[in-house]
Amino acid sequence: MKDNQQPQPIRLEDYTPPPYRVDSVDLRFELGEDATRVQARLAMVRSAPEPVPLRLDGRELELVSLQIDGQVLEHSAYSVDDEGLTIASVPEHFVVEIETRLRPQDNTSLEGLYKSSGNFCTQCEAQGFRKITYFPDRPDIMARYATTIVADPQRYPVMLSNGNPVEEGHTDDGRRWVRWEDPFPKPCYLFALVAGDLRYIEDTHVTASGRRVALRIYVEPENIDKCDHAMESLKKAMAWDERVFGLEYDLDIYMIVAVNDFNMGAMENKGLNIFNSKYVLARPDTATDDDYDGILGVIGHEYFHNWTGNRVTCRDWFQLSLKEGLTVFRDQEFSADMTSRAVKRIQDVRMLRARQFPEDDGPMAHPVRPDAYVEINNFYTATVYEKGAEVVRMYQTLLGREGFRRGMDLYFQRHDGQAVTTDDFYAAMADANDADLGEFKRWYSQAGTPRVQVESDYDRDRQVYTLRMRQSCPPTPGQHDKQPLLIPVAVGLLDQQGRPLPLQLEGEGQPVGSGTRVLRLGGAEEEYRFVNVPEAPLPSLLRGFSAPVRLEYPYSDEELGFLMAHDSDLFNRWEAGQQLSTRVALALLRDLQAGEPLALSAALVEAYRRLLGNGVGDKALVAEALVLPSEEYLAEQVSPVDPAAIHRVREFLRAGLASALRQTFWECYRANRETGPYSTDPAAMGRRRLKNICLGYLMELDDAEARRACVEELDSAHSMTDVIAALNVLANCECEEREPALEGFYRKWRHDPLVVDKWFALQARSKRADTLARVKVLMRHEAFEIRNPNRVRALVGAFSHGNPARFHDPSGAGYEFLVDMVLRLDGMNPMVAARLLGALSRWRRFEPGRSAKMRQALATVRAHQGLSKDCYEIADKSLAEDA
Ligand code: TRP
Ligand code: ZN
Repeated sequence: MKDNQQPQPIRLEDYTPPPYRVDSVDLRFELGEDATRVQARLAMVRSAPEPVPLRLDGRELELVSLQIDGQVLEHSAYSVDDEGLTIASVPEHFVVEIETRLRPQDNTSLEGLYKSSGNFCTQCEAQGFRKITYFPDRPDIMARYATTIVADPQRYPVMLSNGNPVEEGHTDDGRRWVRWEDPFPKPCYLFALVAGDLRYIEDTHVTASGRRVALRIYVEPENIDKCDHAMESLKKAMAWDERVFGLEYDLDIYMIVAVNDFNMGAMENKGLNIFNSKYVLARPDTATDDDYDGILGVIGHEYFHNWTGNRVTCRDWFQLSLKEGLTVFRDQEFSADMTSRAVKRIQDVRMLRARQFPEDDGPMAHPVRPDAYVEINNFYTATVYEKGAEVVRMYQTLLGREGFRRGMDLYFQRHDGQAVTTDDFYAAMADANDADLGEFKRWYSQAGTPRVQVESDYDRDRQVYTLRMRQSCPPTPGQHDKQPLLIPVAVGLLDQQGRPLPLQLEGEGQPVGSGTRVLRLGGAEEEYRFVNVPEAPLPSLLRGFSAPVRLEYPYSDEELGFLMAHDSDLFNRWEAGQQLSTRVALALLRDLQAGEPLALSAALVEAYRRLLGNGVGDKALVAEALVLPSEEYLAEQVSPVDPAAIHRVREFLRAGLASALRQTFWECYRANRETGPYSTDPAAMGRRRLKNICLGYLMELDDAEARRACVEELDSAHSMTDVIAALNVLANCECEEREPALEGFYRKWRHDPLVVDKWFALQARSKRADTLARVKVLMRHEAFEIRNPNRVRALVGAFSHGNPARFHDPSGAGYEFLVDMVLRLDGMNPMVAARLLGALSRWRRFEPGRSAKMRQALATVRAHQGLSKDCYEIADKSLAEDA
C-alpha cells in the first residue's frame, strides 16, 4: 500500500447525510491533445444546521484555480490532499468555481475522462467523477447538469453529453463548441461525455403516450454495419418496459456509444449510455449466438436503469443492489420474454451457481447489501448483481406478478427523483400488498447460501403427504451466527404417470394452485401436510429455482430419471439431469481417488440416449441438458479439491458418452445442420447449439470424420457461432488440423478486435497440456495489448477463470503467471487487476500442495510495494484468519 498504511474500510453504519447540497453543475471541457481543461461551476447550499468545512473529493487532479462567489481563494483558505480538498469556511449559499487540468491520454485506469481508440469518453461510476473535478462524489447529491464541450472539429466532429443539445458555435481560434443540458437531477456517477470521430445509426421510438424519441447508436466508422441488432434490442426493451411496468423513456434522445476500452459491460449514464463494444457490435459472420443474447440482455439492462437506478438512485454505495439486483432481474425477465424462458432461467441459475455460490462460500463473502468496503469497485459482484436479482425475483414469487407490479408502482410513486435504500424498496413491496414478509429482509444483510434439507413421508391410510423442511446457513467471515430467512419453495407433486396431483394443505377447503404452489419456509424447521393425496407422490421441489439456496432431497436415480422425462417444470427437468450427472461424476471421482477402475454409468447413457432421441423437444433445452456440470461446479461439491482429478473424470464421462452414443450424436449433428437461410431466432439458435454440442462430443473421440466436419464448419461464411464452435474443439485437440485452423482464422479476422478476442480466449481455455506455454507466447503476439481490458480478459482471464485444469497446474506455474500479470496490471488498471486476482481467493479449498502455492501467491501480491487498494483488499481478505 501507499506509505505502507493499511487502507481503512468505509462502513454503512457511519452514513450521515451530506452537509451541503449541489443544486446545479455547469461544466466546460476544453479537450486537447496535450492537456484538457475542466471548469466546474457548482451552486451549493448548506443543509447541515451549523456551518462546517466544505469537503470535496478529488484524485490525481491538477488544481489550476479555485473561487468562491467570484473571489479567488487564498492558499491559506483551503487545503489539498491525495483524496480531495477542504475549504475551512463557506457561506450558506455559494458558488464554487474550480478549474482542473487533466491528461486523459495517459489515463489507463479507464475511470474518469480517458481516451479509447483516439476518442474521449468517461466512466464515472462509482467514483470516477472525482478524477474530473473536485466534487462531493456521492450518489445522494443529485443536481442538474449543463455541459459545454470545446474541441477541434476535425478530430472530434461528434461531441456528446447527457440530456439534450441546446446550443453550438465556434470559438475565435476555430474550435467548435456544443452545449448540452440535462433537465433531470442526477448523481455525478451518471455524468458522461464523449467526443470523437464517430458515425451513428438512427431510429425512433414512439412511446405509449405518443412522444417521439430519437435513438442513436454511435460507433467507429468501420463498425457502422454492426449496429442493427443493438438497435432492435433497444426498441424491444423500450416497448417491453412500457408493457410490463408502464415505464416510458423521459428525454427526447437516447444515445449509445460503443468503445473498445472499457472495464465492465456497459454504463447507464443518463441519456448517453457508454458500452463495451462487445455488447453492441454484431453481424452473423462476426458474432456468435451467445454474443447476440449478451447484447440483448445488456442493452436491456442499461435501458432499464433509466428508471431503476437513474430516476430512483442509491443513497450510498452499500445500496448498490437496489439498482443492480433490480435491474438484472428486469433484464432477465426481458430476455426470457424475448427468447426462451426456460433456457434463460437455466443459464441464469448455472451462472449463479458457478459464480455467486462460490463467492458466498469464500473469503470475499458479503451480503447483498454489504456493510463495509475498502474499495467499492470490488463490490460489483455476483452477489450484488445476481443474488440481488434473485432477491427481487423472490418478492415476485411471494407476491405474485400483480402484487410485484403494485410494489413497483408504489416504489416509483414514493421515490421518483430520490436517492434511497433497499429498506425503502422492501417497504414499497410490503406496503403496496399489505403483506407480512416476515424475515425476508435478512436476505439483504445475511451472507452465505442457505441450505434447505427436505424429507417426505406418505401416510397411505390417511392419504396425507408430509414435506418437512429444515434451513441452515454456513458461517461467513464476520458473520458466525445465522438466522432463518423467509424462503419461497415452489413445489409440485407428480403421480406415477407424471401428472400433477392436487395441492391441498391441511386446513384448506380445496386444492390451491394449478400444479405448483409456493410454500413459505420461515422458521428453522417447518412441516407441510398435504391432504387427499391418493397415491405416494414424487415431489418436484424449488421449481424454477424459486430461491437461491442449495436444496437437498434424497431422490433415487430412477426418480431423477423420471423427473427428467416428466416434470412439467422445465427448469426442474434440467435440474434432475444435472443432479443425476453430478452424482455419477462424484462417484467416479471417489473411484479414481481410491485407485479403482472407472466405469461408465449405464443410467447416464440411457438418460442421454432418451434426450437425444427426443426429436420433438425444444432443441435449446435438449442442448442445455446435454452439458455436463462444469468442472467448477463439481469442485464445489467436494473438499478438498483436486482439479486434475475432476478434469479427468469429466473428460472420461464426455468421451464415454461420445463412444457409447456415437451414432446418435452423428444423427443429431447431421439432422440439425443449417438448411435454409441463416436466422438468429431462438429456434435457429437452439438448433445450432444442439448441433455444436454434438460435434463437441464427437471430437472427444479420435475421429477423422469429426475433424473433417470441424474444418468444414470453419468455412461457414455466415455463422460465427458455427466457426467458433469448430475452432474451439480443434483448439483442444492434438491434431494436424489445429494449427492451420488457428492461423487461418487469425489472418482472416486480425482487423476485428472482438473476433481476435475470441481467438485468444479459446486458446487460453484449451485443455491441451501446453496451454500455459502457449498463453505466454501469445502475451508477446502483435495483437496482445495489456492496456485493453477485453484483450486481458480474453487471454489472462480466460486462462485463470475459465481453465481450472491448466490454471491449477500442480507445479504452481499458473499461479506465478497470474501474479506476474496482476502486478503488471495493477499500476495501470487496478480494477481489472483485482478481478483477475480473485482467481486465488479460495485457496483454502484445494488439496494441500496447490493450497500452499496459492496462499504464497496471494502473500506475494499483498506484500507488493505501492499495491492498489483494489488488490490489497482482495489479497488481504483472502488471507485473513477468520475467512
Ligand atoms: N452500472 C454499470 C451496470 O451495471 C456497471 C458499472 C459499474 C461499470 N461500475 C463500472 C461499468 C465501471 C464500467 C466501469 O450497468
Ligand atoms: Zn447495472
